Amino acid sequence: MTGLRVLHVSSEVAPFTKTGGLGEVLGALPAAQRQIGLDARVFTPLYGFHDRAALRPLLEPFTVDLGPHRFGARLHQTPDGRVIFADVPSLLDRETPYGDAGDNPLRFAVFSKLAAQYARRCADVVHAHDWQAGLTGMYLHGDDDAPPVVQTIHNLAYQGACDLALGRSFEVPSSYLTFEGAEFHGRLSFLKAGLTSARLLTTVSPRYAREILDEPGGHGLAGLLRHRVADLHGILNGIDTSVWDPRLDPHLQANFDLDDLGPRERNTDELRRAFGLRPDTAVVGIVSRATWQKGLDLLIDGAEVLVTRNLSFVVLCDGDPDLLHALTALHHRFPDRFAVITRFDEALAHRIYGGVDFVLVPSRFEPCGLTQLFAMRYGAIPVVRETGGLADTVQDGDTGLTFFDPTPEHLVDALDRAVSLYGRKDELDAIRRRGMAKDSSWAKAALAYETLYRRLT
Ligand code: GLC
Repeated sequence: MTGLRVLHVSSEVAPFTKTGGLGEVLGALPAAQRQIGLDARVFTPLYGFHDRAALRPLLEPFTVDLGPHRFGARLHQTPDGRVIFADVPSLLDRETPYGDAGDNPLRFAVFSKLAAQYARRCADVVHAHDWQAGLTGMYLHGDDDAPPVVQTIHNLAYQGACDLALGRSFEVPSSYLTFEGAEFHGRLSFLKAGLTSARLLTTVSPRYAREILDEPGGHGLAGLLRHRVADLHGILNGIDTSVWDPRLDPHLQANFDLDDLGPRERNTDELRRAFGLRPDTAVVGIVSRATWQKGLDLLIDGAEVLVTRNLSFVVLCDGDPDLLHALTALHHRFPDRFAVITRFDEALAHRIYGGVDFVLVPSRFEPCGLTQLFAMRYGAIPVVRETGGLADTVQDGDTGLTFFDPTPEHLVDALDRAVSLYGRKDELDAIRRRGMAKDSSWAKAALAYETLYRRLT
């Protein structure tokens, strides 16, 4: 049996590239798809920080043309052939995936064109992710022999819009330079190109799939998405349960599982000690990008009240300098209440999930969210805003606590309920155990995507 050849196109794939959930998803979904017999691979950029010695050349060097541009390029792959790297040194070889040289539109247009060329020869279905892969479907459009394209939205807030005049030099067909194509408020939107060219659209939770049909959730694209609602599917993300396994996790001081939760307390004590947090408080963790979306300002605004409660916080985040500054100021004012670590630290993230009592996710919107899934698997009770994938994965009083209004007052109320739950050990334990028992593996999603692919082939 030769499996259906699925080519994922993504600017991130863990463990090679990861700035957030996108990389995490691409690191795990294809493996789950291979388990059910699909031949799933990922096409991704080769950035400056990648280890070239671990890769094998796939083709002789060649040139890629895009409008007036011409670049030297080559392809490499991992020894198992599962990840293919597009190597365009003058464009992609940067020290961060989304460099700040201002040429991201050109970089990801060339990347998407290369993906389209490769897919023509080597794929039965193309699965494009987010705006960075958004032009792939457009480059394949109109070619009857080209594989069908599924476009996934991981976050509608990032659309990759640039000057419409660049369209010509990106070989955007004139039909796409209009409102029915990729034109968005006088600009060229990579994501909109993906949403109008792909045969099927998906996003990463059923609830988010509904929320984006109206504004403001649609970020200006609700009308288009309503028009395509019959082709739009919400498929809930999973997590990589082999990487995220509290029984074996090497980052944890003490490993534990559902049948033996005792050792977990050692992790909690270790966190309190390492960060000088007040003993006996319930420890609340946050692992997040610091952006408006994530609602960290609600925590900042509620802090004066929260320090009067039986709570302490470990906040691990990176992103918007103003938010990081405000969080760091909280740490200086209340050092034994707020530990604030402003960097990306994978190992510490694992220690937080494996030690804190609660994980707070106050997002204003959240397409899926993975942090609440890691939390549940590691026995930390999620306290989340009821939106998007958070609402789909955390049930109030059953597997966590939820609140609706994105205000400091409602956040404080939810944490007051957490403090009260902390005092009722049996109930706390029951919620914790239901969260841990929940199946968040990729198996279901892998099947759901396969059903969609089969519809197209
Ligand atoms: C984006 C979204 C997040 C989602 C992730 C993976 O980062 O903001 O909600 O979980 O993509 O799909």
